[in-house]
Amino acid sequence: MRIESPREFERLGAVRIYGLQKVYELDAGPESGSPEGGEDSVVRRVSSEALHEIESQMAIVVPVRNERLKLIEGVLVGIPHDCLVIVVSNSPRAPVDKFFLEQEAINNFCRFTRKQVMVVHQKDPAIAAAFSAAGYHDILDDKELVRNGKAEGMIMGSLLAKMAGRKYVGFVDSDNYFPGAVNEYVKEYAAGFCLNPSDYAMVRISWHSKPKVVENSLYFAKWGRSSRHSNMFLNKLVGHHTGFETEIVKTGNAGEHALTTDLAMSIDYATGYAVETFHYVHLLEKYAGILTEGEGVGEDMHRMVKISQIESRNPHLHEVKGDEHVEDMIAASLSTIYHSKLCPESLREEIEQDLQRRNYLKEGEQLAPMRIYKSLDRMNYDQFFATSEAAIRAAGGTSLTVPVASSKPSPVEPTPAETAED
Ligand code: GDP
Ligand code: CO
Repeated sequence: MRIESPREFERLGAVRIYGLQKVYELDAGPESGSPEGGEDSVVRRVSSEALHEIESQMAIVVPVRNERLKLIEGVLVGIPHDCLVIVVSNSPRAPVDKFFLEQEAINNFCRFTRKQVMVVHQKDPAIAAAFSAAGYHDILDDKELVRNGKAEGMIMGSLLAKMAGRKYVGFVDSDNYFPGAVNEYVKEYAAGFCLNPSDYAMVRISWHSKPKVVENSLYFAKWGRSSRHSNMFLNKLVGHHTGFETEIVKTGNAGEHALTTDLAMSIDYATGYAVETFHYVHLLEKYAGILTEGEGVGEDMHRMVKISQIESRNPHLHEVKGDEHVEDMIAASLSTIYHSKLCPESLREEIEQDLQRRNYLKEGEQLAPMRIYKSLDRMNYDQFFATSEAAIRAAGGTSLTVPVASSKPSPVEPTPAETAED
């Protein structure tokens, strides 16, 4: 991949937010002897070997809820072979057992590709019991099962990535129409980790365009209403604390993102539509050195948190499920900024006025805070791994099909057929 070096970055304490990086070539060829694209050049080349090296240490979490099997399969087709795929499904099991159909389709796919895929159901009681045993109760509902939601699925997936010993964890939605786009996202995650390496690194994708039909022809829109809002207010937040107006943040709503597993374990998560925007807010709360008190603040300030933003080339097209939730998305994202201790009074007022202008909030009404899950590093991992493994064995090894690795990926690649019998 050939990719622009970040031209600028904003620094707040240990957090570095790099400017958007443009992709010049999706495939820039293998390692060559020539010294092309050194650290100081404007455009950097990441060889296919270097990408591959990162991919083999990455897990890709694919959250699923009631998607068409053809779409899920297309997404799997796009994920590079060496990534461990973790499908976290919250599809209904009755009256039709959709999850069973997904498992079957995925197993079939694995038979041809020999890809490593872990398929789990969000409501698997074994996983819920493991969360409980490990002392992480917040994620469980009143039936003692993991709550509904994509964020909850992502949290589960991240933990399974850790359990499988993967160093990086990335996310791609299961309703993407283009396998080529999925493939590109994962390559860009790898390129971002290569170019801006750190134990605490995050890569976020900004879509180049989103095709829409306008007056009977295709129009390639760049920014949705919701991302425009999140970016604008996040930039105001950053600008307030640096004292300089900025447009650095372009990925306030990036569903497509990846991070080091260590970072994934150390951050809090918001739920619903707020999860991606909250990444920025929380990273600044925890690592920017602005807040002086509060849980976790000031920890690990010696680690550099690097946020890369990469502009993808494929158009992004996913299943259309109606546009009615845009207002909710905006409110949820802004709520994480509004309720942060970092948010100055003036910005709070601006957010209120914005939401009132769009009739989302009435005069005197308050923006509801989002549910926040505390970081996973406070749970007892050994207990989680031991309980889930034991429960799955006792149940005859139904859904969780990857062996527990301690710190490194297992050198032996289990084929799906073998692991299913474990
Ligand atoms: P949008 O793209 O933001 O409009 O949201 P989608 O409805 O497409 O959801 C994003 C992704 O999350 C899709 O792949 C969904 O299948 C998946 N998803 C939605 N809800 C849940 C859930 O409760 N659990 C899991 N595991 N995945 C979910
Ligand atoms: Co979608």
